[in-house]
Amino acid sequence: MELPFAESWKIKMVEPIRKSTRAEREQWLAQAKNNVFMLRSEQVYIDLLTDSGTGAMSDRQWAALMMGDESYSGARSFFELKETIGRITGFKYVIPTHQGRAAENVLFSYLVKEGNVVPGNAHFDTTKGHIESRHAFAIDVTIPEAKDTQRELPFKGNVSLELLEKLLKDNSGNVPFMVLTVTNNTVGGQPVSMLNIRQTAELCHRYGVPVVMDSARFAENAYFIKTREEGYADKTIKEIAREMFSYVDCMTMSAKKDGLVNMGGFIATNREDWYEGCKLFCIPFEGFITYGGMNGRDMAALAIGLDENTEYDMLETRIHQVQYLAKKLDEYGIPYQRPAGGHAIFVDADKILVNVPKEEFPAQTLTCELYLEAGIRACEIGYILADRDPVTHQNRFGGLDFVRLCIPRRVYTDNHIDVIAAALKNVYDRRDNITRGLKITKEAPLMRHFTVELERL
Ligand code: F0G
Repeated sequence: MELPFAESWKIKMVEPIRKSTRAEREQWLAQAKNNVFMLRSEQVYIDLLTDSGTGAMSDRQWAALMMGDESYSGARSFFELKETIGRITGFKYVIPTHQGRAAENVLFSYLVKEGNVVPGNAHFDTTKGHIESRHAFAIDVTIPEAKDTQRELPFKGNVSLELLEKLLKDNSGNVPFMVLTVTNNTVGGQPVSMLNIRQTAELCHRYGVPVVMDSARFAENAYFIKTREEGYADKTIKEIAREMFSYVDCMTMSAKKDGLVNMGGFIATNREDWYEGCKLFCIPFEGFITYGGMNGRDMAALAIGLDENTEYDMLETRIHQVQYLAKKLDEYGIPYQRPAGGHAIFVDADKILVNVPKEEFPAQTLTCELYLEAGIRACEIGYILADRDPVTHQNRFGGLDFVRLCIPRRVYTDNHIDVIAAALKNVYDRRDNITRGLKITKEAPLMRHFTVELERL
């Protein structure tokens, strides 16, 4: 008999989690003004808010913490991290930062000027924020098929080369760089193919435009290239990652994802001029250039995390779990962005709560229902997160309205996944009775989803 699939690790330390009653959750959600960001973690049973900084470190990483060198400058831990990054990415200049958005802040402070246009295969919200706050324009050039949630494509995170070329032509001389995000979080953790990475970089370089890879989930992207793209089945994840980075000029990294640490990030490049430029902003914003916002011990743990997470078994275990959840949802007929992405399932709320009008935020309503059902905290990636149009001040209903079930690395077992799927099925089964959604009572002008207050209708 063929042996079933199982994790490539075993558990050495556990953290208790607590169930609650529906009455408790009703009260807590009302106190949180129907915004799950405002819940306390003790009020959550299974936390799928994000996979960022929420993973479990390995015994080797915990051991490395004890060996961290906390010297203000020239710390051994920095050079160990730099050596690992160099080996995995091929980049020789490294600037540590406290997380991914800090890397964006440092790099964009140097590169982005007012009025610039920065294309991307779909900018993450902090990336867009750092471009727009500098009065520049972040333009998505995603392939149009990515918006069709039921369409199965192996590389749904790809760049549309036609849209990109048109943008480069129309904005000649005004594009400081292009951002290529792997995997593409915004469209559902969807990967970008090696072919598309290479063609995107060639196209940009032909127009004299450098490419920055937003690499938060680069290892998951490499796993999809290995398992889906012709010619890569026999290559190691490390070989694939190295090739991915070889086409681009620079990377920004949120190490809280594929770096397997709770906090950290970095910029890496071979361009000496960019390194010199970034240093000037790293020192005042983050810290001296050999720690830039990270403890020595965190750099030591990150060096090991990067090595561990660029091994096939680790990635297979992780992505298998996301696909396991997808299979359960298929069994129950629950629609999501297909195929399953690397770090999360993006449930298509618009197709489920068909009786809740857009103006009443179906995905946020479904997020609340899932929490009330079983204490599961997901997150809305939809109309609330899309913010208002800066000119018309109208809500932006043009995009997709997702509930993201984001799976932390090495944290939950497949039994938890069964609970998540069953809870969502229970909500799904009573979807026709959910006819009213939510009304915003208080919101911030930008990135309102973090602090928004809502009232049930
Ligand atoms: N780029 C991508 C693709 C991301 O997904 C994130 C964070 C960042 C940059 C910013 O990194 O959080 O370390 O400052 N994404 C998290 C998420 C928050 O939940 O998807 P950060």
